[in-house]
Amino acid sequence: MTTTQETGLDQPLLRELELGDLRLPNRVVMAPLTRARAENPGLVPNGLNAAYYGQRAAAGLIISEGTWVSPRAIGFVNVPGIWTEAQVAGWRLVTAAVHARGGRIVQQLWHTGAVSHPDHHGGALPAGPSAVNPHEMSFTADGPKATLTPREMTSAEIEETVDDFRTAAANARRAGFDGVEIGAPGTALVPQFLNPRLNLRTDRYGGDRAGRRRLLLEIVDAVAEPWDGRRVGVRLSPHWTSGDRFTADEGVLADYDELVSELNRHPVAYLHLRGPGPAAPGAAPDLAPFTRYRSRFDGPLIVNHGFDRASANTAVETGTADAVSFGAHFIANPDLVTRFAVGRELAVGDPATYYSGGSRGYADYPVSG
Ligand SMILES: Cc1cc2nc3c(=O)[nH]c(=O)nc-3n(C[C@H](O)[C@H](O)[C@H](O)COP(=O)(O)O)c2cc1C
Repeated sequence: MTTTQETGLDQPLLRELELGDLRLPNRVVMAPLTRARAENPGLVPNGLNAAYYGQRAAAGLIISEGTWVSPRAIGFVNVPGIWTEAQVAGWRLVTAAVHARGGRIVQQLWHTGAVSHPDHHGGALPAGPSAVNPHEMSFTADGPKATLTPREMTSAEIEETVDDFRTAAANARRAGFDGVEIGAPGTALVPQFLNPRLNLRTDRYGGDRAGRRRLLLEIVDAVAEPWDGRRVGVRLSPHWTSGDRFTADEGVLADYDELVSELNRHPVAYLHLRGPGPAAPGAAPDLAPFTRYRSRFDGPLIVNHGFDRASANTAVETGTADAVSFGAHFIANPDLVTRFAVGRELAVGDPATYYSGGSRGYADYPVSG
């Protein structure tokens, strides 16, 4: 494996990229980051959120934090939504701040399904693919609480959920976003449906691989409608492992092989993969897991998890990925692209302010030099 150590403007990460019909000036993508700064009852983004995103507008592309498509999707405190007019107006501040600085931003659409808690739903149980406790935690106003056994979604609720995604995608367009990304990594609703331990349904949304992936594919098609079949990305994490329900065994990976191939038959502008991450702290991520999906997906691929400048340049240079997204580095380095360009050291963020703290640890990280 070759490694790339370049700094300067000729490094692979700083080359332009056509991502679907979006033209990116570089391949340094800001990964979606829940920051829980919509601290108001309407879950409306505000000027502080606009300042934070505007500071990061030099990214080739910003992917917004996971955003609730409807009240039913909620599973975390102070995370903004995109179903009310006030939320659309709030997001306009954000997209305007990014565009004023020459940037591009797509909105990640999110639904927590069973990985929520009655505290988010006026005491009612959240709904998931089947009545199986996902054994995860939900961040409530009183701190993290263990999930319970959810209700099984009815077929009418599944249809409503697909409609919620469609409406959210239309709202994102009205709010000035440049596209949307379907948030389907980790423990979200879509991977709950993909997961044979959580999805025990015997109707058309379960039973076998084709059934389990039906919800995602219906969401892709629905979300693409208000975008005229363009600008819809999908984020997946085939290797996600947590608790005793989410494990990346060979069966799960085979499901994802088929799913990724199937995405070619739907209007998907790009695939965004979160990989297993580095084997040891500071090690470069193994590129083999991404190569597996690279060969199956025909469109552009963004990869993520544990990359730094050198390993990301290698991923692009070797053709493993078209672009690389950065999470933690973008929290602490609003000018990450400049730091990569000049080979400047990166600041390290404070995890204590990842999900709270107002402006502190959010919009107050300085640019370098
Ligand atoms: C504070 C925080 C919030 C996150 N929120 C989201 C999210 O809303 N949606 C999502 O798909 N991933 C989310 N992630 C995962 C990141 O997008 C990314 O996969 C992770 O940070 C690994 O990339 P990195 O090694 O570059 O940080 C979050 C990660 C962190 C640290």
